[in-house]
Amino acid sequence: MISGHYAMTFGSQWNWAILAVLAAASVLVRHFFNRRNQGAILTWLWPAVAVLMLTLAFIIRPQMATQQTPVAEQPAVGQDDIVELVTARCSTCHSATPTDPLFQSPPGGLVFHDYDSIANKADKIYSQTVQTQIMPLANRTGMTDEERNLLGLWYQQVKSEQSVQ
Ligand code: HEC
Repeated sequence: MISGHYAMTFGSQWNWAILAVLAAASVLVRHFFNRRNQGAILTWLWPAVAVLMLTLAFIIRPQMATQQTPVAEQPAVGQDDIVELVTARCSTCHSATPTDPLFQSPPGGLVFHDYDSIANKADKIYSQTVQTQIMPLANRTGMTDEERNLLGLWYQQVKSEQSVQ
């Protein structure tokens, strides 16, 4: 009944507890009227229910959506990790002597052989690998989402280092 309109009640990981508290609160309210019909006014019940509902409201208050850790607080992506990753996933083609049977020479003349050769192409690597995911070509080298995320993190890092300088 309530849940159709109030996503905060069932969308929470505590949805079972929220339902239990709501049920307890309604029992108390019902109890108040039952007793009143018998001539007894249970004044303590109102504050009790109020406290219950306020506690509930506090618990299910909206949280900041997906808090993004600022770049500075994330563990720095090491240059070695990036070289290793790009060597594993890109250098079958983008090397002076490609091992991928489709290519005799590096496609686009692009060779990634050390950190600088990668960092110099950071913008293009980011757009091809993280944004459009065109590279690795047909994902022939089986790049994973985690690896794309790592490249994205590295790219942010490179950019924020540049903006500091
Ligand atoms: C299976 C072979 C292959 C693999 C693996 C591969 N590429 Fe490429 N890459 C190509 C080809 C083919 C082109 C197109 C060259 C052209 O346009 O002449 C290209 C072009 C590019 C370009 C230039 C795009 C442009 O528009 O200037 C970038 C940047 C690039 N690749 C990055 C990467 C990165 C980073 C990886 C690894 C994550 C990777 N590639 C893996 C084959 C590959």
